[in-house]
Amino acid sequence: MNTYDAKANGVGCYHDWINHERAKLLQERCPAAKRVVVIGNCDLYEGDCLEVMKALEPVDCVVTSPPYDDLRDYGSDYDGVDLFAAISTISDKLSDGGVCVWNVADGTINGSESGTSFKQALHAMDCGLRLHDTMIYIKDNVNFPESTRYFSGHEFMFIFSNGAPKTFNPLIDRPNKWAGTTMHGTDRQPNGSVKQISGIGKTIKPYGMRFNWWRLTNNNNPTSHPAPMPYSMAHDHIKTWTNTQETILDPFMGSGTTGVACVKLGRRFIGIELDPGYFDIAVNRIRKTSYQPDLFVEQPEPKPVQEDLDL
Ligand SMILES: C[S@@+](CC[C@H](N)C(=O)[O-])C[C@H]1O[C@@H](n2cnc3c(N)ncnc32)[C@H](O)[C@@H]1O
Repeated sequence: MNTYDAKANGVGCYHDWINHERAKLLQERCPAAKRVVVIGNCDLYEGDCLEVMKALEPVDCVVTSPPYDDLRDYGSDYDGVDLFAAISTISDKLSDGGVCVWNVADGTINGSESGTSFKQALHAMDCGLRLHDTMIYIKDNVNFPESTRYFSGHEFMFIFSNGAPKTFNPLIDRPNKWAGTTMHGTDRQPNGSVKQISGIGKTIKPYGMRFNWWRLTNNNNPTSHPAPMPYSMAHDHIKTWTNTQETILDPFMGSGTTGVACVKLGRRFIGIELDPGYFDIAVNRIRKTSYQPDLFVEQPEPKPVQEDLDL
């Protein structure tokens, strides 16, 4: 739609026209993008993220799963991407206190790990980001059996931050083993002495804050993309590290899982995808979700009370 005629067109057309005009503007600002599609609060770019990111304003958060160690086949035209360059650019684009969730795993070289995940984490630190947390995604399926190693059933979710994270809305949904009982115990000090823990005598609540390893299932993400991230990974990190109306970038958008979670959680989203076929999948998923967002936008959880932990 190129023009808007209020008499002839309804509200739906008005939104289409606004989206269309914004896409035109973004395309002018970013000639490196082959296509720009705007759907409500989502700006979607088809192109190479190393080029497209240069044209972007700073963002509050990045939630992404890059094509790590060529573990998946992204089509015959795909010849790899410099993930160190991507991390450098992300470090320039993260606002103060912004967080980047970097979900990766190592490929196997001669039966052992490549080590690229750790190299990337160290590179992020060299770029001035903090390695705020090394979180673990425990998968419900394991990779091919190895004859000389235990089966690999995890990936990393590195949390890089630009300074101290400005937002932390921890998820309090871990059932407390000692719920209903009274808190007691001691904590060993660096000099070897023991001290009574704070909160002694309080009743332990039913749920405590999650640990930094998450067991996630990936059968809730039906797309034809070869490597979609579990929906709950995107959803739970966005809830944790951002508030409503903040902007989240996924430079390796794939089928658009981060974007779908942003729509449901009332966040703004910027997605970049190189492959036109995957880009179309993301556009369709995000469009479908925008037509049927959750009835109420979810609000941040209250801050946790440390005594809830059953350590
Ligand atoms: C692991 S997948 C991301 C999956 C995504 N999180 C999802 O849930 O569908 C990585 C994606 O990065 C894309 N990609 C690879 N190089 C890229 C580049 N230079 N710029 C943008 N996207 C790229 C691939 O085509 C692939 O779809």
